Amino acid sequence: MIKVGLVGFGKAGQAVAQVLQEDPRYELCWIARRSAASTAPTPPGIDVPLVALATPDDWGQWLDSHPVDALVDFSRPESLHLYGEQLRRRGLMLVSAISAYSDADLDYAHTLAREARVLCSPNITVGINFLILAARLLRKIAPFADVEIVEQHFREKPEVSGTARKIAQTIDVDEDHITSLRLGGIVGHHEVIFGFPYQTVRLIHNSIERRAFGTGAAFALAELARCENGFYTFDDLLMRMVRKELLSKQP
Ligand SMILES: NC(=O)c1ccc[n+]([C@@H]2O[C@H](COP(=O)([O-])OP(=O)(O)OC[C@H]3O[C@@H](n4cnc5c(N)ncnc54)[C@H](OP(=O)(O)O)[C@@H]3O)[C@@H](O)[C@H]2O)c1
Repeated sequence: MIKVGLVGFGKAGQAVAQVLQEDPRYELCWIARRSAASTAPTPPGIDVPLVALATPDDWGQWLDSHPVDALVDFSRPESLHLYGEQLRRRGLMLVSAISAYSDADLDYAHTLAREARVLCSPNITVGINFLILAARLLRKIAPFADVEIVEQHFREKPEVSGTARKIAQTIDVDEDHITSLRLGGIVGHHEVIFGFPYQTVRLIHNSIERRAFGTGAAFALAELARCENGFYTFDDLLMRMVRKELLSKQP
């Protein structure tokens, strides 16, 4: 069983903690957050220690007394620099879902990957990553098809979805082809429509709730555990599986 420490216990972290705690492949050992003074209620069923780790020394002492095999990070970009050297020294696996790393943060993560297995993914759901992979393949197969991207989110979301922009960039479609709809409380809907002459293909992903981030982190941990030290994206992990699957079908 892989022993896991979760970093961050906000909206996403709380949902991820529930999933990791229920997954028999993992032992969620503790959860680190920024401040012990945080008063967010602990969701029902979460029964591991919550700790505030504010400095690299705090991290060193905590990991000495509470060792784990892997960190799953749903906190803020700066956390990486607090636990980074401890992660390197101990060769811990890292699944980081932080969406807002700077180039300097990512450079640092790459240096950690010389001594550890490091995954950074600004999109951590299995479904969206699969949709992107499938759209990329179909674009290669049918470069002549018209492509439109539709994204739908809750009324208050002001900006065009970062995921929709990532899809457009990955399949080399201009962002003018993204249509954004803002309706009620939709959590997240992404659709890529391929218009062929005599048929239409629609790739659709709907987010239902934040626990999908936990499912993605759990998938990434399981795959990362099979990898060598190095830096990985979610796409890298999916492609490894696809390659293995295709090769196993060859005569
Ligand atoms: N890749 C994806 O698909 C995906 C999906 C969802 C979220 N995310 C990322 O996950 C992160 C959290 O999102 P959220 O919506 O849950 O935010 P949030 O509600 O603001 O929660 C942030 C959490 O991080 C903790 N934190 C901040 N600095 C820390 C530090 N130095 N050490 C340890 N913990 C620290 C906070 O601690 P306190 O509780 O003490 O304030 C809080 O628990 C963001 O970076 C977001 O980009 C990524």
